[in-house]
Amino acid sequence: MAEPPRILLIVTGGIAAYKSLDLVRRLRERGARVRSILTRGGSEMVTPLSLAALSGEKVYQELFSLTDESEMGHIRLARDADVVVVAPATADFLARMATGLADDLATTVLLATTAPVLVAPAMNVQMWAHPATRRNVARLRSDGIRFVDPGSGDLACGEEGPGRMAEPIDIVGAIETVLAQPKPLHNVRALVTSGPTFEPIDPVRYFGNRSSGKQGHAIAAALARRGAEVTLVTGPSAQPPPPVATLTEVETAEEMLAACRQALPTDIAVCAAAVADWKVKAVRTQKLSRCDGPPPRYEMEENPDILAQLAQAAAGRPRLVVGFAAETGDVVDRARAKRERKQCDWIVANDVSGASDVFGGDANTVHLITPEAAETWPRLSKDEVADRLAERIADALAEPADAR
Ligand code: PMT
Repeated sequence: MAEPPRILLIVTGGIAAYKSLDLVRRLRERGARVRSILTRGGSEMVTPLSLAALSGEKVYQELFSLTDESEMGHIRLARDADVVVVAPATADFLARMATGLADDLATTVLLATTAPVLVAPAMNVQMWAHPATRRNVARLRSDGIRFVDPGSGDLACGEEGPGRMAEPIDIVGAIETVLAQPKPLHNVRALVTSGPTFEPIDPVRYFGNRSSGKQGHAIAAALARRGAEVTLVTGPSAQPPPPVATLTEVETAEEMLAACRQALPTDIAVCAAAVADWKVKAVRTQKLSRCDGPPPRYEMEENPDILAQLAQAAAGRPRLVVGFAAETGDVVDRARAKRERKQCDWIVANDVSGASDVFGGDANTVHLITPEAAETWPRLSKDEVADRLAERIADALAEPADAR
């Protein structure tokens, strides 16, 4: 079933804020999920309670609220939206947006979001016509911000002319137009592997590793947000599953390979899973007990290399195969060699030596290695790494194949 569109509504301190309540109602009627941010000025015009009651969601107000941040951090609020709508947008708020301020929750979220932003200004006719406002609107338009221009008529201040916020029905229309625009990975099929594999020893024991699935799941979510039809094949992970088209849960490397094969053909494959290189040759059917003799020794054999098999497939090879390299020591050189050996197009190298908290942690410092270059990204959250990678993948797919 298609996910409902996720709309983040920012209500600022214009008298037209009362119309935003009608906007929320209309969006809900159309099946949208509406989260709202109420600025300090906005809360002088409408109450958080009325917005919460109409939207059926918590209303966010403070950047430095511990409760808000622990429930839904401002970065997630920015990221978990298909479109951000500012209605009404006052002259002051437009000026703050145009200068790139981030001194409250609303402006911070606007800087952090990668979703399209739609603005419905509302102000006095002279303020709308003022050169400063014209300049701010032009700047915002050139930054890619979309506008639902104000209408003309009697204004709350008693004057007449353009400045009145567009009617909620027209804002709904503009939102629907934005949502209908194809996303960069529309019509693209993606396969992502994530998490560890568990290789059984006997009915109760296994060899595993510390991968949490955070990085792989974040990549699956970032690709899905950009419109890709994602199959996520994951080893055992406590991560909540992201909204992807298909989720396949596996335990072993063999099962992961089978699930990946089944997902093909895809346009992209991103292998972020920490797949066990070896498995126990003869898995015991009975639980081994201390009383059975001296500590056991296990004969191991190689697991299939899923990434190499995808990258070297004679038929049905994804157009772009991206591996990960978990390295210690000379991370970039080792990852370069790994890319060549496995024949994937790109490899994302991360340092997993003792001090790093990459396995299981929330942040990662990666190097993106392509046939031409190796670039080092700053330390970012795993969600940010995923977003950057998804952007790069979308750009690469937009290029002709020989330019990649
Ligand atoms: O899950 P997290 O806690 O968020 O941690 C993220 C991560 C550290 C697991 C992730 O960023 C990462 O580095 N994933 C790859 C881990 C790994 O197994 O690296 P590798 O260098 O051993 O393998 C290289 C590549 O080959 C990887 O794309 C891996 O998925 C793939 N591989 C490896 C072995 C195998 N038998 N089959 C494979 O497909």
